[in-house]
Amino acid sequence: MAEIVFDEDTRSWLIRTAATSYALRLTEDDTPSHVYWGPALTRDQVSDLIPETGQRWDAFNDPNEGLDELAVDGGTRYWTPALQVRFADGTRALEWRYLSHEIDGEERLRLRFRDRHYPLSITLNYRVPPGTDVIERWIELTNDGTEDAIEVIRSDSATWVLPVRPGYRISHVTGRWAAESQLLREPVPHGEVTFGSRRGITSHHANPWVMLDDGETTERHGEVFSAALAWSGSWRITTTRSSTGRLTVTGGSGQDGVVPRLAPGDTVTTPVFAGLYTEGGFGAASRAWHSYTLDHVLPHPGELRPVLYNSWEATGFDVTEAGQRSLAEKASTLGVELFVMDDGWFGARTGDHAGLGDWQVNRDRFPDGLKPLVDQVHRLGMKFGLWVEPEMVNPDSDLYRAHPDWVLHHPHRTRSELRQQLVLNFARPDVAGWAHGWLDSLVGEHGIDFLKWDMNRPFSEAGWPTDGDPDRLWVEHTHAVYAILDRLRAGHPGLRIEACSGGGGRIDFGIMARTDQVWTSDNTDALDRLVIQHGYGQVYPARAMSAWVTDDPNFVTHRTTPLRFRFHVAMAGVLGIGGDIVGWPEEDLEYAREQIALYKEIRPVVQHGRLHRLVPPETDGVTALQYVAADDGSTVVFVFRQAAHFHAPERPIRLGGLDVAARYRDADTGKVWHGAALLAHGLLPGLPDGDFASALIRLTKL
Ligand code: GLA
Repeated sequence: MAEIVFDEDTRSWLIRTAATSYALRLTEDDTPSHVYWGPALTRDQVSDLIPETGQRWDAFNDPNEGLDELAVDGGTRYWTPALQVRFADGTRALEWRYLSHEIDGEERLRLRFRDRHYPLSITLNYRVPPGTDVIERWIELTNDGTEDAIEVIRSDSATWVLPVRPGYRISHVTGRWAAESQLLREPVPHGEVTFGSRRGITSHHANPWVMLDDGETTERHGEVFSAALAWSGSWRITTTRSSTGRLTVTGGSGQDGVVPRLAPGDTVTTPVFAGLYTEGGFGAASRAWHSYTLDHVLPHPGELRPVLYNSWEATGFDVTEAGQRSLAEKASTLGVELFVMDDGWFGARTGDHAGLGDWQVNRDRFPDGLKPLVDQVHRLGMKFGLWVEPEMVNPDSDLYRAHPDWVLHHPHRTRSELRQQLVLNFARPDVAGWAHGWLDSLVGEHGIDFLKWDMNRPFSEAGWPTDGDPDRLWVEHTHAVYAILDRLRAGHPGLRIEACSGGGGRIDFGIMARTDQVWTSDNTDALDRLVIQHGYGQVYPARAMSAWVTDDPNFVTHRTTPLRFRFHVAMAGVLGIGGDIVGWPEEDLEYAREQIALYKEIRPVVQHGRLHRLVPPETDGVTALQYVAADDGSTVVFVFRQAAHFHAPERPIRLGGLDVAARYRDADTGKVWHGAALLAHGLLPGLPDGDFASALIRLTKL
């Protein structure tokens, strides 16, 4: 349980999480200043760390030493400003005046401040979700004046101040469409480095989390400071490293040059930028984030995600009722539990050039509407899911012809198209209301169980000519998406949603709080997926990671891999089938049936268990990972070999997370192993010969 205490003498607060401590204080001039973040310390122990008052002789170097709890632009501060505003008279510098604090139960702290002169109130919020070491932070800004708006140049949710360490290294992911979530681990440069997205979505190119370590941390050992932002629009996270070894991480929503205004009486609440200190290596950091996601982020984490079928790779835009019916029939014989019809079912959407925005079923393709297909899928014992892309419009659509002003645009500027589509301005209440309206009726009238909510292109020319404060659309678009998702879920409690953005362009804790799973990547090549899933899993859990088995050669890489390899890769997440199963030979169908049945047995361990990355994908061609069930300790190990080389003998793979005193039985061979031996020495995986070999080993704890 968390505990938060205030010490009046030092004007400091100590936040104790399950296994860590965090402390901050007020300086003499009321600035909130960081004191400590790391292994658990008591109040007495932390009091040793509170600096003496008085100026250092070399204070002109760096008066605030990077210790600001939220680095405002103002005074003699030269670190990256987390909060930067401009008042109506042009003044920018902020001066803190402390008002009060509230400690709410064991888990929540609010510190209230006001500018010394101008009508701006700032609240710093801290919350420790029970049972975690995660500290959620966000701020609220209120313009409590009556006359003038305040320009908000930058409003980060939090600045995380890290202890001085010599060799800071950062872990983060980079990528692009069909190549998301590629893990990088590199030295933190001195100076400022900003990671972010200016695309209006989280992006394929970076993901809003960072992990920092002292350069010595490994998968199984060492300290990690991490921070993750719960936001699905543009964002920025800046690391600043000084010559003294100090490192800060400041982050939030927004992007340079976009300056929304805070009107008199208005409050903005920033998204959560959560921090986490862990010991036990990168593996322990990931497991702590996974538990946090399962216990405090996902809406129905206790559920097991069903095995789905998705028609996209099988049909592309060639959608017909007969075609969907035969796919559904075949899928049901395999043990699929959720049948999802992808793009191509509505309007004039027979290709990507037209129809987006016209969300009426295409009567040439479905003469009696969607209902007969939905009913058949239900009769076959499966749930029915449907693809939608509510934020988009093709210029060749009735919607755009009727409402050309509904899209993001600037006067006298090109409306740049990507994939022949433009972005609707969801910050407009009429547009957001329209979207909720048709989604609500679509789901309600047809008994739809699942939506795949896609978003296939970033913003451009993001203007709103009729609005006095157009820059607010960047944030409000995302809030509107959230609000529609929330309303849909409230109106249809059985509805489940997959977040997609041309694959993994919108994966973050903000969207995960409102969806049940994410489409990890359009790249379904099993070998590439090992890398993508490795990066995804640094922070996000398998429980939300959609992974399909698709046809060969893969449409992105043109690679051919054994069906077994493709199944094993997808079974390490939320298994789905995305191939043209009507054309599969009987032996492949039979194999798929077996693997789907097997997946249903192991899925509680995969989806709810604890991940141990045994060998990362970038080593010698063999990669392995393991899930361990939290309740009965049973475990599933996946081992993959890309290519066989030089008749090398198999190496034992050391397992993790087992009970050293227990024994484990291999569910397939019956062989019994000592947990101690598996941990200390490892297990020979028994991979088949040749390239793209894989093994799945199930161990039950005796
Ligand atoms: C995006 C998605 C795909 C598919 C297509 C349909 O690319 O990521 O899975 O739904 O759109 O147009």
